[in-house]
Amino acid sequence: MINYGKQFVDDDDIKSVIKVLKSNFLTQGPLVKKFERQLQKKLISKYAICVSSGSGALHIVAKSLNLKKGDKVISSPITFLAGIAGAIHCGAYPEFVDIDKNTYNIDTNKLEDKLKKQKRVKAAIITDFAGQPSDWEDLYYLKKKYNIILINDNCHSIGATYKNNIGYALKYSDVSCLSFHPVKHITTGEGGAILTNNKKLSLQYELYRSHGIQRNYRNSHEPWVYKVDNLGFNYRLSDINAGLGISQLNKLDKFISFRKKIANAYFKKLQNIEELKLPYLNKDRTHSYHLYVLRINFKKINKKKKDLFKIFAKNGIKLQVHYIPIFLQPYFKKNFNINYKNFPNSMNYYDEAFSIPIYYGLKNNVINKVEKILKNFLK
Ligand SMILES: Cc1ncc(COP(=O)(O)O)c(C=O)c1O
Repeated sequence: MINYGKQFVDDDDIKSVIKVLKSNFLTQGPLVKKFERQLQKKLISKYAICVSSGSGALHIVAKSLNLKKGDKVISSPITFLAGIAGAIHCGAYPEFVDIDKNTYNIDTNKLEDKLKKQKRVKAAIITDFAGQPSDWEDLYYLKKKYNIILINDNCHSIGATYKNNIGYALKYSDVSCLSFHPVKHITTGEGGAILTNNKKLSLQYELYRSHGIQRNYRNSHEPWVYKVDNLGFNYRLSDINAGLGISQLNKLDKFISFRKKIANAYFKKLQNIEELKLPYLNKDRTHSYHLYVLRINFKKINKKKKDLFKIFAKNGIKLQVHYIPIFLQPYFKKNFNINYKNFPNSMNYYDEAFSIPIYYGLKNNVINKVEKILKNFLK
């Protein structure tokens, strides 16, 4: 079965991991630091803190917000729920803001409406959906005007650019979180990272990654001493994972250009099919194509999304939906007061959207098959 995404692992990756397995350190060794330095350089950040997942990254970042009861954190409903979940774990009340109907990123006008009404918003988590940067200049303006912290969920968009800048995430936001899950651009198995230019935050993130343990209280007479002022987690990345990450990061540019080629091939083949809505591209940014999302107004053509999924599955292709609006999950319905009428774009999107395969190494025959199945379905 062909999935919407998967990893690409070559001999260099395997060699890199074997080398770690033969070394003295499987974890807490030198490779995490090395991977962090490479991420800093590639993505133009002063600090990088590797962790065991993108979700762990977002949780640590939320912990560092020091939320008080009644503080609110904003998310788009059309993203993975790990960001807002991390904030809720740290005491936030979640608030949602609808997506833009073309880019599927957060709608910055609706975000401003929300910020005007809600006094206790501490932070907004901004996903650069599918791999296309959000409206960062507008977001930065809102950050300054309403004094909020911007957390960039960069789990889809490593290597994307905004106004020719690959380091855009930290130009406009306070902190940026990455995921190295196998469906993402580069993988460490499980893994993630937090990027920031703020030294104080970077030190906090490092502490929270490893139980809050401060070891610099050791001295020669009491070499066992450490101190914990605040409780953290074990969200460390192992050296085995970091070894894989280092060799994967060398291939990032190649991975992204391949994904762009697939996107261009889909565009050429699908652009004239009237019933299909293709990804909208902003001219001042580049897309790194973690996902390739299509939309069909199924109601209008009197067909069902689930039938499209069945036909694709019969042909060996597993479609996916990114995402069910977060607030439709029973946990959110039970615990929070959400008026669905405020989210027309998210609800329409959910009715219509589905993701087709895009990953490094995807074969042309799959692209041809996708085209053929879609044309047959729409006939
Ligand atoms: C937008 C977004 N945020 C956060 C995450 C969480 O990352 P991870 O799976 O590494 O925990 C993901 C991964 O699926 C994601 O797509």
